[in-house]
Amino acid sequence: MNIHTDKIGCLFDLDGVLVDTAVYHYKAWKALANRLGFDFTEAQNEHLKGVNRMRSLEMILDWGGVSKNEEEQLELAAGKNEEYVEMISKMTAEEVLPGTLQLLEQLKAAGIKIALGSASKNSGLILERTNLAHYFDAIVDGNHVTASKPDPEVFLKGAAAIGLEPAHCIVFEDAQAGVQAAINGGMKVVGVGQQNNLQGANIVVKDLSEISVTQIIDLVNDKV
Ligand code: BG6
Ligand code: MG
Repeated sequence: MNIHTDKIGCLFDLDGVLVDTAVYHYKAWKALANRLGFDFTEAQNEHLKGVNRMRSLEMILDWGGVSKNEEEQLELAAGKNEEYVEMISKMTAEEVLPGTLQLLEQLKAAGIKIALGSASKNSGLILERTNLAHYFDAIVDGNHVTASKPDPEVFLKGAAAIGLEPAHCIVFEDAQAGVQAAINGGMKVVGVGQQNNLQGANIVVKDLSEISVTQIIDLVNDKV
Protein backbone atom coordinates (compact mmCIF):
# COMPACT_ATOMS: atom_id res chain seq x y z
CA MET A 1 0.00 0.00 0.00
CA ASN A 2 1.24 3.47 -0.81
CA ILE A 3 2.37 5.81 1.96
CA HIS A 4 -0.23 8.57 2.30
CA THR A 5 1.01 11.91 0.97
CA ASP A 6 0.57 13.62 4.34
CA LYS A 7 3.24 11.24 5.67
CA ILE A 8 5.73 12.23 2.94
CA GLY A 9 8.20 15.09 3.28
CA CYS A 10 10.54 16.93 0.93
CA LEU A 11 13.70 18.37 2.46
CA PHE A 12 15.34 20.98 0.26
CA ASP A 13 18.90 22.20 0.33
CA LEU A 14 18.88 25.91 -0.52
CA ASP A 15 22.03 27.10 -2.29
CA GLY A 16 22.27 25.49 -5.73
CA VAL A 17 18.87 23.77 -5.51
CA LEU A 18 16.29 26.54 -5.04
CA VAL A 19 18.51 29.57 -5.75
CA ASP A 20 21.95 30.09 -7.22
CA THR A 21 23.92 31.89 -4.54
CA ALA A 22 27.25 30.20 -5.40
CA VAL A 23 28.21 33.22 -7.51
CA TYR A 24 27.83 35.55 -4.49
CA HIS A 25 29.79 33.22 -2.21
CA TYR A 26 32.46 33.10 -4.92
CA LYS A 27 32.74 36.88 -5.24
CA ALA A 28 32.97 37.41 -1.49
CA TRP A 29 35.53 34.61 -0.94
CA LYS A 30 37.59 35.78 -3.92
CA ALA A 31 37.73 39.33 -2.53
CA LEU A 32 38.93 37.90 0.80
CA ALA A 33 41.60 35.74 -0.88
CA ASN A 34 42.80 38.68 -2.97
CA ARG A 35 43.08 40.86 0.14
CA LEU A 36 45.29 38.16 1.65
CA GLY A 37 47.43 38.12 -1.49
CA PHE A 38 46.36 35.00 -3.37
CA ASP A 39 43.76 34.02 -5.95
CA PHE A 40 40.68 31.85 -5.62
CA THR A 41 39.26 30.08 -8.66
CA GLU A 42 35.77 29.00 -9.67
CA ALA A 43 37.00 25.40 -9.65
CA GLN A 44 37.99 25.79 -5.99
CA ASN A 45 34.60 27.38 -5.27
CA GLU A 46 32.95 24.17 -6.52
CA HIS A 47 34.53 22.29 -3.61
CA LEU A 48 32.85 24.61 -1.11
CA LYS A 49 29.30 23.67 -2.05
CA GLY A 50 27.47 22.43 1.03
CA VAL A 51 30.50 23.20 3.23
CA ASN A 52 29.81 25.50 6.19
CA ARG A 53 31.34 28.97 6.52
CA MET A 54 34.22 28.27 8.92
CA ARG A 55 35.25 25.06 7.15
CA SER A 56 35.14 26.92 3.81
CA LEU A 57 37.50 29.55 5.21
CA GLU A 58 39.90 26.89 6.50
CA MET A 59 40.01 25.29 3.05
CA ILE A 60 40.63 28.64 1.34
CA LEU A 61 43.44 29.58 3.75
CA ASP A 62 44.98 26.15 3.13
CA TRP A 63 44.87 26.63 -0.65
CA GLY A 64 46.49 30.06 -0.25
CA GLY A 65 49.13 28.69 2.12
CA VAL A 66 48.12 31.25 4.76
CA SER A 67 47.76 30.46 8.43
CA LYS A 68 45.55 32.47 10.82
CA ASN A 69 44.67 31.97 14.47
CA GLU A 70 41.12 31.32 15.63
CA GLU A 71 40.34 34.95 16.42
CA GLU A 72 41.64 36.11 13.03
CA GLN A 73 39.63 33.38 11.31
CA LEU A 74 36.43 34.53 13.02
CA GLU A 75 37.14 38.09 11.91
CA LEU A 76 37.84 37.04 8.31
CA ALA A 77 34.65 34.94 8.17
CA ALA A 78 32.62 37.83 9.58
CA GLY A 79 34.06 40.20 6.94
CA LYS A 80 33.26 37.76 4.13
CA ASN A 81 29.76 37.31 5.45
CA GLU A 82 29.17 41.05 5.62
CA GLU A 83 30.06 41.35 1.94
CA TYR A 84 27.96 38.30 1.06
CA VAL A 85 24.94 39.61 2.98
CA GLU A 86 25.21 42.92 1.14
CA MET A 87 24.91 41.01 -2.16
CA ILE A 88 22.09 38.66 -1.16
CA SER A 89 20.14 41.57 0.31
CA LYS A 90 19.58 42.66 -3.29
CA MET A 91 18.34 39.27 -4.52
CA THR A 92 14.92 39.08 -6.16
CA ALA A 93 12.33 36.41 -6.91
CA GLU A 94 13.76 36.25 -10.44
CA GLU A 95 16.77 34.41 -9.07
CA VAL A 96 14.73 31.36 -8.07
CA LEU A 97 15.97 28.41 -10.16
CA PRO A 98 13.82 26.87 -12.94
CA GLY A 99 11.04 24.51 -11.85
CA THR A 100 11.20 25.50 -8.18
CA LEU A 101 7.89 27.36 -7.87
CA GLN A 102 5.96 24.79 -9.89
CA LEU A 103 7.29 21.92 -7.78
CA LEU A 104 6.65 23.69 -4.45
CA GLU A 105 3.10 24.55 -5.56
CA GLN A 106 2.44 20.95 -6.64
CA LEU A 107 3.82 19.53 -3.39
CA LYS A 108 1.58 21.86 -1.37
CA ALA A 109 -1.44 20.88 -3.45
CA ALA A 110 -0.65 17.19 -2.86
CA GLY A 111 -0.38 17.76 0.92
CA ILE A 112 3.31 16.82 1.00
CA LYS A 113 5.29 18.59 3.73
CA ILE A 114 8.17 20.89 2.83
CA ALA A 115 11.23 21.68 4.93
CA LEU A 116 14.57 23.38 4.39
CA GLY A 117 17.83 21.62 5.24
CA SER A 118 20.65 24.06 4.56
CA ALA A 119 24.16 24.67 5.90
CA SER A 120 23.68 28.42 5.48
CA LYS A 121 23.10 30.79 8.38
CA ASN A 122 21.60 33.24 5.90
CA SER A 123 18.72 31.10 4.68
CA GLY A 124 16.05 33.32 6.30
CA LEU A 125 17.16 36.39 4.39
CA ILE A 126 17.48 34.50 1.08
CA LEU A 127 14.02 32.91 1.41
CA GLU A 128 12.46 36.29 2.23
CA ARG A 129 14.20 38.12 -0.62
CA THR A 130 13.21 35.48 -3.18
CA ASN A 131 9.67 35.14 -1.86
CA LEU A 132 9.98 31.44 -1.00
CA ALA A 133 9.61 31.53 2.79
CA HIS A 134 5.85 30.92 2.84
CA TYR A 135 6.17 27.47 1.23
CA PHE A 136 8.08 25.98 4.17
CA ASP A 137 6.53 24.03 7.03
CA ALA A 138 9.91 24.02 8.79
CA ILE A 139 13.31 25.61 8.36
CA VAL A 140 16.49 23.98 9.62
CA ASP A 141 19.73 25.73 8.70
CA GLY A 142 23.26 26.49 9.87
CA ASN A 143 21.86 28.27 12.92
CA HIS A 144 20.33 25.04 14.23
CA VAL A 145 23.03 22.44 13.64
CA THR A 146 26.51 21.73 14.91
CA ALA A 147 27.63 19.00 12.50
CA SER A 148 28.29 19.77 8.84
CA LYS A 149 27.04 17.63 5.94
CA PRO A 150 27.81 14.69 5.27
CA ASP A 151 26.61 14.35 8.87
CA PRO A 152 22.83 13.83 8.58
CA GLU A 153 21.97 16.20 11.49
CA VAL A 154 20.40 18.95 9.36
CA PHE A 155 18.09 16.52 7.53
CA LEU A 156 17.21 14.45 10.62
CA LYS A 157 16.21 17.70 12.36
CA GLY A 158 14.23 18.68 9.26
CA ALA A 159 12.33 15.37 9.27
CA ALA A 160 11.66 15.71 13.01
CA ALA A 161 10.46 19.31 12.57
CA ILE A 162 7.76 18.18 10.15
CA GLY A 163 7.02 15.12 12.29
CA LEU A 164 7.95 12.50 9.69
CA GLU A 165 10.10 9.39 9.54
CA PRO A 166 13.40 9.86 7.68
CA ALA A 167 12.49 6.96 5.37
CA HIS A 168 9.40 8.92 4.26
CA CYS A 169 11.50 11.97 3.32
CA ILE A 170 13.21 12.88 0.08
CA VAL A 171 16.20 15.20 0.09
CA PHE A 172 17.00 17.52 -2.83
CA GLU A 173 20.73 18.28 -3.03
CA ASP A 174 23.32 19.73 -5.40
CA ALA A 175 26.41 18.77 -3.38
CA GLN A 176 28.06 15.38 -2.88
CA ALA A 177 28.36 16.03 0.88
CA GLY A 178 24.62 16.69 0.98
CA VAL A 179 23.75 13.52 -0.94
CA GLN A 180 25.88 11.58 1.53
CA ALA A 181 24.18 13.33 4.48
CA ALA A 182 20.78 12.22 3.17
CA ILE A 183 21.94 8.63 2.67
CA ASN A 184 23.49 8.64 6.15
CA GLY A 185 20.12 9.79 7.51
CA GLY A 186 18.25 6.95 5.77
CA MET A 187 16.52 9.19 3.22
CA LYS A 188 16.04 9.00 -0.53
CA VAL A 189 17.86 11.63 -2.60
CA VAL A 190 17.17 13.59 -5.74
CA GLY A 191 20.46 15.02 -6.98
CA VAL A 192 20.26 18.36 -8.76
CA GLY A 193 23.10 18.95 -11.24
CA GLN A 194 25.67 16.63 -12.80
CA GLN A 195 25.66 12.87 -12.11
CA ASN A 196 29.42 12.75 -11.36
CA ASN A 197 29.05 15.21 -8.43
CA LEU A 198 26.06 13.35 -7.01
CA GLN A 199 27.16 9.74 -6.47
CA GLY A 200 24.55 7.67 -4.68
CA ALA A 201 21.53 9.84 -5.55
CA ASN A 202 18.41 7.82 -6.48
CA ILE A 203 17.55 10.18 -9.33
CA VAL A 204 19.61 12.99 -10.88
CA VAL A 205 17.92 15.94 -12.58
CA LYS A 206 19.33 19.05 -14.25
CA ASP A 207 16.93 21.25 -12.30
CA LEU A 208 13.61 20.92 -10.46
CA SER A 209 11.57 21.26 -13.65
CA GLU A 210 12.60 17.67 -14.42
CA ILE A 211 10.91 16.05 -11.43
CA SER A 212 7.22 15.45 -10.76
CA VAL A 213 5.18 14.79 -7.63
CA THR A 214 4.33 11.33 -9.03
CA GLN A 215 8.03 10.47 -9.24
CA ILE A 216 8.53 11.70 -5.68
CA ILE A 217 5.67 9.53 -4.40
CA ASP A 218 7.04 6.52 -6.36
CA LEU A 219 10.51 7.10 -4.96
CA VAL A 220 9.30 7.08 -1.34
CA ASN A 221 7.33 3.91 -2.11
CA ASP A 222 10.44 2.20 -3.58
CA LYS A 223 8.96 2.11 -7.08
CA VAL A 224 11.87 3.93 -8.72
C1 BG6 B 1 25.86 26.26 1.83
C2 BG6 B 1 26.68 26.68 0.65
O1 BG6 B 1 24.52 26.15 1.46
O2 BG6 B 1 25.97 27.21 2.89
C3 BG6 B 1 28.13 26.90 1.09
O3 BG6 B 1 26.64 25.69 -0.36
C4 BG6 B 1 28.19 27.89 2.24
O4 BG6 B 1 28.89 27.36 -0.01
C5 BG6 B 1 27.29 27.40 3.38
O5 BG6 B 1 29.51 28.05 2.71
C6 BG6 B 1 27.26 28.36 4.57
O6 BG6 B 1 26.66 29.56 4.17
P1 BG6 B 1 26.58 30.88 5.05
O7 BG6 B 1 25.53 31.70 4.35
O8 BG6 B 1 26.16 30.49 6.43
O9 BG6 B 1 27.94 31.50 5.03
MG1 MG C 1 23.73 23.33 -2.05
